[in-house]
Amino acid sequence: MAAPVTKVGILISGRGSNMMALVEQARGYEVALIASDKPDAAGIAWAQQHGLATFTQSPKGIPKAEYEAAIDAALRDASVEIIALAGYMRLLSDDFVARWRGKIINIHPSLLPKYKGLDTHARAMEAGEAVAGCSVHVVTEELDGGEVLGQAEVPILPGDTPDTLAARVLEAEHRLYPRILAEFCAR
Ligand code: GRF
Repeated sequence: MAAPVTKVGILISGRGSNMMALVEQARGYEVALIASDKPDAAGIAWAQQHGLATFTQSPKGIPKAEYEAAIDAALRDASVEIIALAGYMRLLSDDFVARWRGKIINIHPSLLPKYKGLDTHARAMEAGEAVAGCSVHVVTEELDGGEVLGQAEVPILPGDTPDTLAARVLEAEHRLYPRILAEFCAR
């Protein structure tokens, strides 16, 4: 009998290139829903064009708990078991994280625990690092703070700018995230 396929929900806020990589390289998991806080996110248009189930809920004008309850209901309606954050630019509340404890992962463009938060590439370059990279980690109440599941290193080259470095790290993200998500679903 074939192994059961884990249903994954992906949360995005923007272009969704990591979401596309997760969809295109899916094995051992199935993308059951792509949800966004930005109804006009480019990634949502791509998902719809590809016949994937989508859900959008703007947080504007409603309490955070209500916004998150709507996302939570959509994920549960789609029978989602694991949530993959992929450029989702909103902090999840402690309540939401607790409800999905150990079931949410994220990709972050630095070699954690270094450079949590924003502007990771500029900060790595300013600090004179020779190597940058990306990490996939379990989401906890601490920003970019949960167990690191996998990392990829990317050298910082002479002449790099934060943008050129970000572009190379993004290619590494697209290879790393589907592999780590598949491993996480299997464990
Ligand atoms: C990626 O760099 C990811 O590491 C970070 O946000 C960016 C999202 O890009 N969390 P995309 O929307 O997946 O193209």
